[in-house]
Amino acid sequence: MTQVTLSETAAAGPGVVPKDSLTVIDNRTGKSYQLPVEHGTVRAMDLRQIKTEPDDFGMMSYDPAFMNTASCRSRITFIDGDRGILRYRGYPIEQLAEKSSYLETAYLILSGELPTKAQHDGWVFDITHHTMVHENVKDLMMGFRYDAHPMGMLASTVAALSTFYPEAKQIHDPLVRRKQIHRLIAKIPTLAAFAYRHSRGLPYVYPDNELSFAGNFLSMMFKTTEIRYQVNPALERAMDVLFILHADHEQNCSTSAMRGVGSSYVDPYIAAAAAIGALYGPLHGGANEQVLRMLADIGSREKVPAFVKEVKESGGEVKLMGFGHRVYKNYDPRAKVIKEMADRVFEVTGRNPLLDIALELEKIALSDEYFLKRKLYPNVDFYSGLIYQAMGFPVDMFPVLFAIGRMSGWLAQWEEMVQDKEQKIARPRQVYLGADKRDFVPMLKRS
Ligand code: CMC
Repeated sequence: MTQVTLSETAAAGPGVVPKDSLTVIDNRTGKSYQLPVEHGTVRAMDLRQIKTEPDDFGMMSYDPAFMNTASCRSRITFIDGDRGILRYRGYPIEQLAEKSSYLETAYLILSGELPTKAQHDGWVFDITHHTMVHENVKDLMMGFRYDAHPMGMLASTVAALSTFYPEAKQIHDPLVRRKQIHRLIAKIPTLAAFAYRHSRGLPYVYPDNELSFAGNFLSMMFKTTEIRYQVNPALERAMDVLFILHADHEQNCSTSAMRGVGSSYVDPYIAAAAAIGALYGPLHGGANEQVLRMLADIGSREKVPAFVKEVKESGGEVKLMGFGHRVYKNYDPRAKVIKEMADRVFEVTGRNPLLDIALELEKIALSDEYFLKRKLYPNVDFYSGLIYQAMGFPVDMFPVLFAIGRMSGWLAQWEEMVQDKEQKIARPRQVYLGADKRDFVPMLKRS
């Protein structure tokens, strides 16, 4: 058996197996390899030296859907899915939801530290003064059908911002990056509210700089003829907390889209539009919309057991939307905060009658073998829609609300990727199983 030692581990001396390493024996050749282990990972590129012949391409890892592959090293968000822990830059989500504001949390996520008073005031000023969008954006909105889904409108108009700010292409200039970060966080609520107003045939409401981030968004959504929209403080706070809860969630589908598309060095508007596209799907941010549709379809508490039975017997086809998570194998800590907050919102808006169906579903699912065995618990989308609906948002706006909060996380992850010297253009490998080389057959000779 030949011992092949990687250059990184050679320092340990011949014949000495470094402790932080993985020994791999290739049974095809009998050769053994030591792969350095760092932060609980081996580098997939270290597998490439494992060859059967000198001209062999070398070993790759196969990991559809990235079930067990770390694509980056990140300092932004920590999740312990087994224990139901979520922290932004080390701060527990429960503390941020209780004590912070969305803009303060966004600053934390992007900068790594909580802001001082002066930093906070400057940051809020910068965001507040970038909330307007170019008037041409309204013309663009006018092109959409009256029943266009607001996520489609949001993705398109965020992409369109790229054409208004061509300097955004200078992604390696930190000042240019910061300006686009201000713009994207500030303008996404404006675009989201415009999309809603378009679908209702209502005039667009311009941003009000006297209001908070959440208050201004509610004003742009719901203001009618009053001079100034009177924001209900409980609803304003609930909106802000929901934005905090959605601000980041490490390498999920949309964040991976943001990083992956951004790795081609396209500007952040286009990368964010791609992330919005990923979020739209029913398995991701579109799930909150599907939860409400599911609850409405079930119709009453009495019909819950029959629905749960249908889910269990469908072989994975019918899902209990708002349940399950790739990372959480325990109660999603965000769902806990939302569930607790629901009562405060319902005090103002009146109780959402679908809540009873949701509570019954949760009760039955959490005592059922099918869900327990698979560790399926309520996720962030299970209760958020009930609050959104009670506040007056139509269901198709739910994923849009998710996108507003998530913009800060996408941008932080994008900026981390741009500055990471180890990152390159994202380009996964494949295992080709298609046809071997064959010669072209003219059409008339094909059987
Ligand atoms: N209802 C019923 N069965 C489920 C559910 C569900 N919601 N989720 C997973 N399962 C089953 C699945 O059929 C599989 O069963 P089996 O082992 O018999 O084949 C098992 O549980 C493992 O599921 P999986 O599909 O391998 O898990 P995943 O990590 O690939 O998928 C998920 C995670 C979130 C896509 C999935 O749980 C799901 O589709 N949930 C419903 C949609 C949803 O609520 N999405 C929001 C996620 S949280 C916010 C966000 O990320 O945007």
